[in-house]
Amino acid sequence: MQAQLRPENISGIGSGFDPLSPEVRRCPHPHYAALNRAPVQPVAGHPNFYLVSSYDTVSEVLMDPETYDGQPFPGYEVNIMSAMRPEPHKRLRGAIQSLFTNQSLTQLTPHIEAQVRRRTAELLAAGQGDLMALWANPIPLSVIARLFGFPEGEADLARLHRYGDAAIRLVIPLGGPGLPVPRGLVARWRQALGLLTALPPLLRLLWQLPAAERKALSQLPNPMADLPGYPRTGFPHHPELARLILEFQLEVLGILHDHLRNPRDEVVDALLPPYRRGELRLGEILSSALQILVAGYETTANTLGAAVHRFSTEPERLRELQDHPERIEAYVEELLRLDAPLQRTLRRTTRPVRLAGVDLPENAQLILMLGAANLDATRFDCPEQFDPARGNARRHLAFGRGIHMCIGAQLARLEARLALAELVPRLQAVELLPEDPPQRVTDKDIGMWGYTRLPVRLTPRSVT
Ligand code: HEM
Repeated sequence: MQAQLRPENISGIGSGFDPLSPEVRRCPHPHYAALNRAPVQPVAGHPNFYLVSSYDTVSEVLMDPETYDGQPFPGYEVNIMSAMRPEPHKRLRGAIQSLFTNQSLTQLTPHIEAQVRRRTAELLAAGQGDLMALWANPIPLSVIARLFGFPEGEADLARLHRYGDAAIRLVIPLGGPGLPVPRGLVARWRQALGLLTALPPLLRLLWQLPAAERKALSQLPNPMADLPGYPRTGFPHHPELARLILEFQLEVLGILHDHLRNPRDEVVDALLPPYRRGELRLGEILSSALQILVAGYETTANTLGAAVHRFSTEPERLRELQDHPERIEAYVEELLRLDAPLQRTLRRTTRPVRLAGVDLPENAQLILMLGAANLDATRFDCPEQFDPARGNARRHLAFGRGIHMCIGAQLARLEARLALAELVPRLQAVELLPEDPPQRVTDKDIGMWGYTRLPVRLTPRSVT
């Protein structure tokens, strides 16, 4: 029998829980214990959307990609890796994996070390400022730049930051209402101007791609715009953001052409053999570059931000890591569990299915609450407690699970470990500024948990 799916009928949650409300986005954790007690429930105010929580239920969904598809729209293929069906995904992931081998990580390590040395020295010399802008953002940005052979000057990284921001807002409005459709004369006028400025990079990109790949490209800024009940976004509505994405892809294409002519043993060259063998198309490299920028930059930056934020509220953690630097890895895992940078992700049912005792129709949109699963008391003892010594901290779902499990997990861990290994011995204390409190990311529908600004005052410690 179909379960009664009205929120007010679900014990433990009460009515009106909306994961997209500004209050919940600012502070979701207090709701998670109740969500985990009722692992499948409809989202108030969002017809056809269901919240999925609890460790076992979220894992069950992630491990069954045939029943729970990453493609948000029935009958339409969004060309990004995290949305792909198992078969095309396997081929693409296999080829893109060449960027994330042990050899690539070894190749990237001296670059990450140099970056964390430089950014940490600058941060401590500044003494006070926005930790995200000074330290947490530039480190992963520069790593992604290096991954793709992108230029690494400050202006280049700022441009990369703008590209990533546009992509998060435009291409992947997972589990959210998306950007508003422009209305009114002024907004329409701006939209028309935006379309004019987006046209030249679009034409340039189309011109440079083989004819067979042009169709796939035109689908990149996806057509969610006009499907009823889905987020309204996409190229025609927000051409100013689409333009940035096209410019990013043009830059990546230029780099690839350059490396095809002059291979030079950099990480990005790992993509050339699968491309030459025909296992990877140019358009796929471009869409994967965009996905890597979106998935790999802010998530890692927010992990770094969360690590330092915790030193301000629990200074004994800083002392502990100074005395036991070998505990940094466990500290990072426990941070990822409690402060999962992606609090949720999305799947769609491909058939009617019963999940955690609730009957779901075909094409139901499931919001998987990764952050709630990580606080499931049946898996993690005293789950709200920050306890890096717990034996199973690494079993968190912050990187997902199954075929779409984060391809950059080891790289993110490496960056966090090296960044903390550099900062921790040099830091006496970090304080938040009461007059300038941290600002949370609340406007990105992808489910990002982290900071737009994290103003701090730092006291350096002399290292002997
Ligand atoms: C702490 C940092 C990170 C977190 C918390 C994180 C989280 C995640 C999660 C939860 C997924 C799975 C989404 C799903 O199943 O719907 C994912 C996938 C992905 N991540 Fe990460 N990520 C991080 C860092 C990175 C980095 C550094 C990169 C690359 C440089 C990256 C690239 C990707 C890609 C390409 C996918 C799609 C994989 C696929 O579909 O096969 N991520 N990430």
